[in-house]
Amino acid sequence: MTVAVLDAEDDFEGWRSAARALILADIAPDQVIWQIGDGPTNLFGGAPAALAAPPAGAAFSVPRAFLDLARTVILHADPERFGLLHAALARLRREPGLIGDPADPLMRRLEPMAKEVRRDIHKMRAFLRFREVADGDGARFVAWFQPDHHIVRANADFFLNRFAAMRWTILTPELSLDWDGETLREGPGATRADAPDGDPIEETWKTYYASIFNPARVKIGAMLKEMPRKYWKNMPETALVPELIAGAHAREAGMVTASRETLARDQSGANRLVAWEALRVEASGCTRCPLFAPATQTVFGEGPVDAALMFVGEQPGDQEDLAGRPFVGPAGQLFDRAIADADINRATAYVTNAVKHFKYEQRGKRRLHTRPNAHEIDACRWWIAQERDLIRPRLTVALGATAARSMLGRAVPIGAARGRPHTLDDGGEGWVTVHPSYLLRIPDKAGADEEYARFVEDLRRVKARLADLAA
Ligand code: URA
Repeated sequence: MTVAVLDAEDDFEGWRSAARALILADIAPDQVIWQIGDGPTNLFGGAPAALAAPPAGAAFSVPRAFLDLARTVILHADPERFGLLHAALARLRREPGLIGDPADPLMRRLEPMAKEVRRDIHKMRAFLRFREVADGDGARFVAWFQPDHHIVRANADFFLNRFAAMRWTILTPELSLDWDGETLREGPGATRADAPDGDPIEETWKTYYASIFNPARVKIGAMLKEMPRKYWKNMPETALVPELIAGAHAREAGMVTASRETLARDQSGANRLVAWEALRVEASGCTRCPLFAPATQTVFGEGPVDAALMFVGEQPGDQEDLAGRPFVGPAGQLFDRAIADADINRATAYVTNAVKHFKYEQRGKRRLHTRPNAHEIDACRWWIAQERDLIRPRLTVALGATAARSMLGRAVPIGAARGRPHTLDDGGEGWVTVHPSYLLRIPDKAGADEEYARFVEDLRRVKARLADLAA
């Protein structure tokens, strides 16, 4: 037997180099014991056979799709995952088609594991609730969460991006994460009792949840699927669920009085954040138009909830759909470059899309972007109107025709609308410019450079205008 030692349950890089070494040394998956850290001594006793480093230059490549799958499956709680992935890697050298064969028994074990991990990641994002605690340095937010799989580290960036401005701690049985506004630290696991109970932020959640609870939409089975009872005890608003269901019909006529608008106007930073987070969670279950069905997930906006500047794109692309974040693919990289050239810091802006689901046409393995139609844009204005209502940006930049239609409520030619302010219905100021993916489609370099420079010039004007508005 060979013992392969990993640093942690989610040590993908450790698994990857051990699995490569095992395969190059021709050691079969059933001859390997996977051990985490110093771990318990293996069943066979004695010192484990050391795993020899592969000879220099010995390597083999595997499809990227497999690495993505392995990176996800490694987070699963099933101890067999390391061996199953080792077996898949070994077979892939001879059968490169394995990864695309959903009928293969090994793939039929791995794919559901990846799905369960993705679902757990989503649940942590959607159902984790911070409680506010005051310490000597002001407000701090603490949350307790009990995942089914080893997903906490993999989710750290998500919480860092969303809650960079506040100090928070996430306690879980396996480890804790602590963000002090500058550094993220890992600590030991905790228990539910280590996390604080009720505080004013719970009242905010409850008020908010009551205000959005739509009794006409109650489907208890679906609700339980999306929000398993296991998480209910961590979520203050769920304490209201039985009562809200019981009173559903009476409430259907009048609904509850507390509204999101009231909450949003009560603009303490924490309340605004809570209202935004609740909006995001609500949008994650959006079915307002058919685009939700084939998409991986809702891609909601991100950025500071008190941003003075908002950028609105068209819709998430293939990479955004997978990552769950706006503007991270090729158009996003061009966007990042252009705003940096215009001296705008993306971290200070709220970035979102007119349409929150990826619309595409499947061609073989590729998902080709398809433009959203007027109905889809209008259905999604429901969300962007509420994002705007919460954030109240001084200035909103619509990137391209879809965003401009969403922002202005009518179709406008970009050429005529760009480069000047538009007064928006809610009193904010809107600007229109091209979409970065338009620049990516320009075939000749000179033309692309020229259009890029115009785009950056638009953004510089936006930056100058924002400074004027703030003055
Ligand atoms: N294009 C968009 O309009 N939005 C994104 O988030 C990505 C690409």
